[in-house]
Amino acid sequence: MALDELLAWLPPGSPEEALARQVNFEQLPAHIAIIMDGNGRWASRRHLPRVEGHRAGINAVRDVVETSARLGVEVLTLFAFSTENWKRPEAEVSMLMALLKRYLRIELGTLLQNNIRFRVIGRVQDLAPDIQQELADAEARTAANTGLLFNIALNYSGRTEITDAVRRMIESGVSPREVTEQRVSDFLYTAGQPDPDLLIRTSGEMRVSNFLLWQIAYAEIWVTDTFWPDFRARHLLDGILEFQKRDRRYGGLKPSRVATLR
Ligand code: FPP
Repeated sequence: MALDELLAWLPPGSPEEALARQVNFEQLPAHIAIIMDGNGRWASRRHLPRVEGHRAGINAVRDVVETSARLGVEVLTLFAFSTENWKRPEAEVSMLMALLKRYLRIELGTLLQNNIRFRVIGRVQDLAPDIQQELADAEARTAANTGLLFNIALNYSGRTEITDAVRRMIESGVSPREVTEQRVSDFLYTAGQPDPDLLIRTSGEMRVSNFLLWQIAYAEIWVTDTFWPDFRARHLLDGILEFQKRDRRYGGLKPSRVATLR
């Protein structure tokens, strides 16, 4: 069913179609997390201001969100703005916030049409009131959707998330005896969601950059040299196909290896 939905949308005879036909829909990553990187370098290669890279990055966001929804992925999390990104020039920060606002206004219809639920993760309370309002509206209007859960990480870092979780656990009166891994997960911004199976990073950098630190414990990592503004459905499909070739052991041994040890 997911293949049909995807094929209806991909250009017939395209490389994307060929890739989509190779995907094993029984083994899709339930949660894909993406560190969108390389917007600035994409722009500077074209002698454009950095913000043009962010503007072009919106097209990649649109394509990846819709492709994930059609594939039948459960959760997609995009890292859009870290708690460290406030150190960037003020003009760049304001432009990123303006782009986010515009994205939500323009794309809300597409999110609704594609049954996508939108959620924000991060210290939203520190964002400007107009941005908070826009985000809350998009969350409320898509809350009843049952398809892809699209998390956007804004003013987010893994360490602040864990710090916030510990604080809330203490405030909620959780006793030391009750502290388990599951209980910690229940206090994270992603409570109730599956952990990422696949972490994608664009632009060739080999770092996790304080992203979903707790949740990526067993994620497969796939790094592509493609800059984020050039990232499209075919790159996402490449990443998924690579994921499906990996041998996930979660710290154990392959069943075939266990058999030889008996
Ligand atoms: C990293 O590239 C990218 C970001 C810090 C922002 C990502 C934001 C967008 C794609 C646009 C807004 C998002 C949404 C969801 C509407 P970089 O600037 O660090 O690139 P560089 O490493 O080449 O300098």
